[in-house]
Amino acid sequence: MGRSGYNCRMKAINIKEKFNLFKDQWSPRIIGELNGQQVKLAKLKNDFVWHSHENEDELFMIIKGSLVMEYRDRKEIVNEGEIVIVPRGVEHNPHTLNEEEVWVLLFEPAETKHTGVIKHERTVEKQEWI
Ligand code: NI
Repeated sequence: MGRSGYNCRMKAINIKEKFNLFKDQWSPRIIGELNGQQVKLAKLKNDFVWHSHENEDELFMIIKGSLVMEYRDRKEIVNEGEIVIVPRGVEHNPHTLNEEEVWVLLFEPAETKHTGVIKHERTVEKQEWI
């Protein structure tokens, strides 16, 4: 807890152990930082919220489960071991396929708000380091 970006350097980080440190969904935790980008972990279940990011591209890597990345004109299923990159400006609504919890690794600029420009009850203003 309370780690700065530099303490995450040069040591192996076990992703599954990090996932075991939190339970809440749709609340990304930060596990690493490099070149102004952050590596985050999040647990997802059911729906999120339609949003876009004006200036940031976002990478999702699926660690467990299957994610549906919904765009305005289609859906993309992203399975365990796969990544999807959402370009800046593209509206998206990530959600899960069924009742199963999905674990994702996010890679995006540090200033990225996970609900984009939308203020939503799910918006977490200050994301925590684990
Ligand atoms: Ni997003």
